Amino acid sequence: AADGAVRPYEEVPVVDLSATGLSSTPLQQAMALAREHGPVYRRRLHGHELMLVSSLELVTELSDEERFAKGIAVALENVREFAGDGLFTAYNDEPNWAKAHDILMPAFALGSMRTYHPAMLKVARRVLDSWDRRAADGTPVDVADDMTRMTLDTIGLAGFGFDFESFARDTPHPFVEAMVRCLEWSMTRLGRQPGGDYTEEDAAFRADADYLASVVDEVIATRTGGSGDADGTPGARDASEASDDLLGLMLGATHPADGTTLDLANIRNQVITFLIAGHETTSGALSFALHHLLKDPAALRLAQREADELWGDATDPDPSFEDIGRLPFTRQVLNEALRLWPTAAAFSRQASEDTLLGGRYPVKAGELVTVLTPMLHRDPVWGDNPELFDPTRFAPEAEAARSPHAYKPFGTGERACIGRQFALHEATMLLAMLVHRYRLVDHADYRLRIKETLTLKPDGFTMTLGRRTPAD
Ligand code: HEM
Repeated sequence: AADGAVRPYEEVPVVDLSATGLSSTPLQQAMALAREHGPVYRRRLHGHELMLVSSLELVTELSDEERFAKGIAVALENVREFAGDGLFTAYNDEPNWAKAHDILMPAFALGSMRTYHPAMLKVARRVLDSWDRRAADGTPVDVADDMTRMTLDTIGLAGFGFDFESFARDTPHPFVEAMVRCLEWSMTRLGRQPGGDYTEEDAAFRADADYLASVVDEVIATRTGGSGDADGTPGARDASEASDDLLGLMLGATHPADGTTLDLANIRNQVITFLIAGHETTSGALSFALHHLLKDPAALRLAQREADELWGDATDPDPSFEDIGRLPFTRQVLNEALRLWPTAAAFSRQASEDTLLGGRYPVKAGELVTVLTPMLHRDPVWGDNPELFDPTRFAPEAEAARSPHAYKPFGTGERACIGRQFALHEATMLLAMLVHRYRLVDHADYRLRIKETLTLKPDGFTMTLGRRTPAD
């Protein structure tokens, strides 16, 4: 300070969006503002301010579970309108969070992936069947659409023994369409004045949310032997699936501490939560990974070589559970894709008490601070060319040399993603099977555009395919 006085804290730049409003791509707008104003700024909208943070230094502090916990920001409050107290949107002190977390954790340990592997493989083969036809007739594939079909069918089958049969449909399953509209409603509602009138969009949202709940009730009824034959509900049932899947645990497992089970209203919220959280983000991650491989022939060749080493020129490889641990480069490709475009691109932290972030930015008890993950992933710790796709950033030596707080695609702490191993097992397997089998052709000279529906996906990304020959 010019007067020589010691300032207890620094002013945070305030960006006032009251006049212009939120853009239709709020995440990319927030990134542009971070580039302009630096790694911490406050965004003012509707008379309310939110601090957005994107430096390693400050995210390291926000990750301190003593000082901060998960915060439910407005976007997640909106998602609560249809996912209630499911794991993702539950408040930290809501008893159902700890209860469901304790009951479901064992289902997501690395070893449990062995249970899901057959369902994952079954759905991966559906992608190959579909893409083989595209390779044969030369028509392009819409990458994000097909990855979404794949991840939805996988979480449906592996988690709930429910088959959405997405590859037998020309348009997405109605559940997906309703869900995407619910997510879009949650996002566009961010730009609206709180407390405004009930609109047509709100009514449409209500109808979609009711439809989601009805599909889920059907899935539950099928399992519990209730009426499972409601007319017009799409999807075939596979009730023979083991009851040690997620739904089986939700219905049957008792809490280690008090012996109670989850109540039905909460189970419905959990199923909706898992169907959404379990597929939107993984689908985007796979789509971005394919985009980067298409644009980086050297990385594609390395990924192909790795798959070739496992499966040779077998036309129909049969990946084992253990094989997926033998694809470290493919895994690095996914990690790097999630660095550049973490598909759940922001998460919020709530201060436990009044504090100074970085010793200089005051944050009040209860206040939310949002981490802008794609900008954290471009912090100087990533070197001087952070936009460059480079999977070797995740080679073991490079990872060991870097702070764990530099990379947060799965959030942080106790409320970090429970499905991380699930997502990585599923995505690594499919990616390896795809590069093993196909030549990827950039028929439209695709330029990356990002579509935001709370999660991120490449917009309008298509490619054509050729079957690889041993010479490729
Ligand atoms: C939480 C990202 C896949 C289920 C989270 C969070 C992030 C995230 C950032 C923390 C959100 C916050 O702090 O507010 C991702 C990404 C995925 C992925 C990038 C794929 C690449 C999955 C899958 C499942 C899943 C496959 C389920 C099978 C959940 C659940 C939570 C969560 C239930 C809430 C956990 C809790 O608060 O207890 N995820 N996720 N996610 N994720 Fe994922």
